[in-house]
Amino acid sequence: MDAPASESKLIDSFKMHVATIESADLEQLHALSVDSFKMHVATIESADLEQLHALSVSVGWPLRSEDLQFLRECGRGYVARDDIGRLTGSAMWFPHGDDFATIGMVITSPRLQSNGTARWLMEHVLRDCLGRNLRLNATRASRRLYHSLDFKPMRTIYQCQGIVRPADSTTTTEQPPVRRLEGEDLVAVAELDAGAFGVSRAALIGKIFAQSVGYGLFRGDRLQAFALCRPFGRGHVVGPVVADSNADAIAVIRPHVAAKENQFLRLDTPIETGLFATFLSQSGLAVFDTVLAMSRPGKGRADVVPGPNLYGLASHALG
Ligand SMILES: CC(C)(COP(=O)(O)OP(=O)(O)OC[C@H]1O[C@@H](n2cnc3c(N)ncnc32)[C@H](O)[C@@H]1OP(=O)(O)O)[C@@H](O)C(=O)NCCC(=O)NCCS
Repeated sequence: MDAPASESKLIDSFKMHVATIESADLEQLHALSVDSFKMHVATIESADLEQLHALSVSVGWPLRSEDLQFLRECGRGYVARDDIGRLTGSAMWFPHGDDFATIGMVITSPRLQSNGTARWLMEHVLRDCLGRNLRLNATRASRRLYHSLDFKPMRTIYQCQGIVRPADSTTTTEQPPVRRLEGEDLVAVAELDAGAFGVSRAALIGKIFAQSVGYGLFRGDRLQAFALCRPFGRGHVVGPVVADSNADAIAVIRPHVAAKENQFLRLDTPIETGLFATFLSQSGLAVFDTVLAMSRPGKGRADVVPGPNLYGLASHALG
């Protein structure tokens, strides 16, 4: 059924119809005219997984349906649908505790971009996240949007990926004590991750841990560094990676790299230069792209920033 003209009017064939949350009445929040399309907002859970997959493929993202389903299990969010039910946009948020969330999966179908859809969906997300400290990883295309929503740049994240090259067998330096992680190591992994990430995300780490092979560096009984590796996108992703030094970070990712020889591997890292970056490029993981990590403080609070010991992200959306 057509909504009354007063609910969402077409201003110009390529101009969006945007209103601030405060000025909009509730009905207007649920429909948006984009070009000749009328968009309706719905929860991300209600979206058909294959349609969601098609949407992410349409913007060139390599995520598998399984990756999208995993994101849905970890977060909340919205999709935009046109009058005949096609998915035209998405935006998600991933809560950790009551005060913090990351934002991701912000996508608008290419044929409808630059008409206000992402801003409209982000307004829904930001309303849900009111008062929370927020972080996200912005692609080039999305920076202007996030700037205008008061997100501030923090640092560059390097998306390193490629087919893993055979290891250099001439490495003779003594290797730190690394072993495969077991279920009983999860608590220590979540604690180390919280220190590096800036806030506890134990539930998410538990879910990632269950899908991953992990290696940890122990000194005495203490876990000092770890790296998880799970199926993702075109192959596997290594992350999160937490370590106090380049040497420790290399020590915990080395077994993953060795296990994935001649296979596709990805690692998203804030580290641009030095031994760790060199190890990645020598292993075949070249910088493929960059994103800009951005943050927005919650009400009356300072930004929650990640520490220098966060060597690898869980993913762009999850931080
Ligand atoms: C980024 C993206 C979600 C923006 O969606 P959209 O629906 O086109 O965005 P909107 O129309 O709501 O525009 C929001 C702002 O961004 C600007 N913008 C939109 N596309 C842009 C582009 N390609 N380059 C520069 N600015 C752009 C708009 O002009 C608008 O700014 P304004 O309000 O100051 O005029 C969309 O381009 C996309 O899906 N890109 C591929 C996936 C991606 O990179 N997602 C971001 C993940 S962090």
